[in-house]
Amino acid sequence: MSRPSILATHPLFPEARTLLDARCDVEYWQKPERPSRADFLRMVAPKDGVVCLLTEKIDKEMLAAAPKVRIAANVAVGYDNVSVPDCTSRKVVVTNTPGVLDETTADFAWTLIMCTARRVGEGEALCRSGSWAGWNLDQLCGGDVWGKTLGVIGFGRIGRAVARRSRGFGMKVLYTDAIRAPETLEKELGAKHVEMEVLLSTSDFISVHVPMMAGTHHLINADRLRKMKRTAYLINTARGPVVDNEALYQALKAGTIAGAGIDVHEQEPKIHPGLNTLKNVVLTPHIASASIETRTKMACMAAENLIAFFDGQRPPNVVNPEALG
Ligand code: DGY
Repeated sequence: MSRPSILATHPLFPEARTLLDARCDVEYWQKPERPSRADFLRMVAPKDGVVCLLTEKIDKEMLAAAPKVRIAANVAVGYDNVSVPDCTSRKVVVTNTPGVLDETTADFAWTLIMCTARRVGEGEALCRSGSWAGWNLDQLCGGDVWGKTLGVIGFGRIGRAVARRSRGFGMKVLYTDAIRAPETLEKELGAKHVEMEVLLSTSDFISVHVPMMAGTHHLINADRLRKMKRTAYLINTARGPVVDNEALYQALKAGTIAGAGIDVHEQEPKIHPGLNTLKNVVLTPHIASASIETRTKMACMAAENLIAFFDGQRPPNVVNPEALG
């Protein structure tokens, strides 16, 4: 069996490297920083396939620079870094890593819910500053989480996992999604399907879980932020451009919403310069799925997708099956 020549744009984890190295000749990007576009295009040019991260654009230019590439195995569930139509028209198979990161990402959405409501970032900064003068009755009072209403925008696997966790906090759950969940699941999670406007105006915590696509760009815009309660919090662990960051900054500055927990940013790795200055937002660097266990599973899954393809099988997580034909 011939050994395909592969570029992996990250050293990956040992488990994934073991899988790949057994079947392919792999060149790994070794440096701690991400490869520049020029480095990426140069390294991928002679390869038969690529294991890539969401920081690499797989587009017309890359496909033209690497005419032998047959598969792009993305180490992420989201694949908005990949131009799928361009890949499909060149018969390049695209794969992703769904499922394995749902619970870890839901844990992190909850981390942000708790940290924003209970002002953990401000408390931590105060402790480290050396200027904490001691306990006081009204010091860093935040909002309660238990017993409140959670609104989930996008009720797929991750949105549902976030809703499931709210059961322990005695919360009411509202969700909005183009597809209504089965009644049994609604019952199990105590979740009610509502229109977006109802969710916005009645939820205390709104957590966003939609994929990035044309229809979700700035889904949360100034108009929708205005519909939220003044006491409500917005959590985004989906994709940065789903929330208009400038509008969010204005809403937080004006106090028309209480706070936000933002893991994903409109122009990563840039952080909105205004958001950066506010105390009522918790900012994290796109780490919702970043547990060792989950990131290792994601890397292994990408490796398995790529290997299945070169073994002549259908990769388990193919995004564009048309490209297989
Ligand atoms: C994804 O998989 O799409 C995340 O954003 C990174 O874990």
